[in-house]
Amino acid sequence: MTISSGSARLAALTGSFGIDNVLISTVPQPSPGPRQVLVRVRAASLNFRDYLVVTGRYNPKMPLPRVPLSDGAGEVEAVGEGVTRFRRGDRVAGIFMQTWLDGDTIEAHGKSALGGAIDGVLADYVLFDQDGLVSVPAHLSFLEAATLPCAAVTAWNALVVQGRVKSGDTVLVQGTGGVSLFALQFARLAGARVIATSSSDAKLERALALGASDGINYKTTPDWDKRARQLTSGRGVDHVVEVGGSGTLARSFNAVRTQGHIAVIGILSGLAGELNIAPILHKHLTIHGIYVGSRAMFEDMNRALTLHQLHPVIDRVFPFEQIHDALRYMESAAHTGKIVIDYGA
Ligand SMILES: NC(=O)c1ccc[n+]([C@@H]2O[C@H](COP(=O)([O-])OP(=O)(O)OC[C@H]3O[C@@H](n4cnc5c(N)ncnc54)[C@H](OP(=O)(O)O)[C@@H]3O)[C@@H](O)[C@H]2O)c1
Repeated sequence: MTISSGSARLAALTGSFGIDNVLISTVPQPSPGPRQVLVRVRAASLNFRDYLVVTGRYNPKMPLPRVPLSDGAGEVEAVGEGVTRFRRGDRVAGIFMQTWLDGDTIEAHGKSALGGAIDGVLADYVLFDQDGLVSVPAHLSFLEAATLPCAAVTAWNALVVQGRVKSGDTVLVQGTGGVSLFALQFARLAGARVIATSSSDAKLERALALGASDGINYKTTPDWDKRARQLTSGRGVDHVVEVGGSGTLARSFNAVRTQGHIAVIGILSGLAGELNIAPILHKHLTIHGIYVGSRAMFEDMNRALTLHQLHPVIDRVFPFEQIHDALRYMESAAHTGKIVIDYGA
């Protein structure tokens, strides 16, 4: 679809929750106010969170209409008065929490999360405060850069910032979704060994091709924690990138070594359930709750991506108009890595 000058597509969750209630309309192109940057979005990517947002499970009280999706990349179309960080033509991506720039996080940062607390990026033109953007690595296409703001920064924060992963460590990643494959790639960059779990042998082959040393199918080997211990000669892994939630945490406690590290990130198998917390004490575990990361982390990560010319793993690209198919594809969990939305020329 070609966008005529002065108008733009915008997709919003309207009326009530549900994939079919994401409605595409044509709106006037916005103009940037003071300190604002108008971005012509070229691509977006899906995170599991976007699926939860759209289906009403992320925050059933979220006021509608709401423009979904946190992760987008594009080029600066225009800048408002007082903008010093960017100029027309710069290649940029939005940061997940618009106000978490550096240092420790505070509760208020969560109120600036794109595609949740505030409108997201599923629109041809999006206005950002100049602080809410980063430059994207030159070697990445817009499709690739759009995968970074949530999944990649989360994996970076979990392993590199909080986990301080180092050469010789063993990292266990759960499943082959967006966060987990970025964690696999970052662990390999640091010289660590990666054990990947997945529901599918074919997906495990993909993980091995990306540098995992071992794969465990958690469907055919439900006690994957024991297998992870065997693979580390009984010691246990140094880090677990926990995306499973209540259904996997107890096994993660078993898979990790004494004084090991678990980054608690996801809730794919649920939020609540009975849990024996004794291993946290007895094994002196470090448990880090992770909620994406700051702009400074995003910029550090971009330097590493650039230095190593690392490319994100994209599973499939859908055109803007097929956002509903893309969300259903995520629901099917058939993907490996990222699902991307191409906004077209
Ligand atoms: N806290 C944060 O800041 C943050 C940031 C990003 C994401 N998250 C959360 O992290 C989780 C992953 O997000 P994502 O966007 O990477 O999702 P995604 O791309 O949709 O990945 C989902 C994949 O996880 C695997 N999986 C599903 N259930 C599993 C289970 N019980 N045990 C192990 N693996 C399982 C499956 O891979 P296989 O088919 O290979 O098994 C599935 O394809 C979600 O819960 C999301 O909400 C949190």
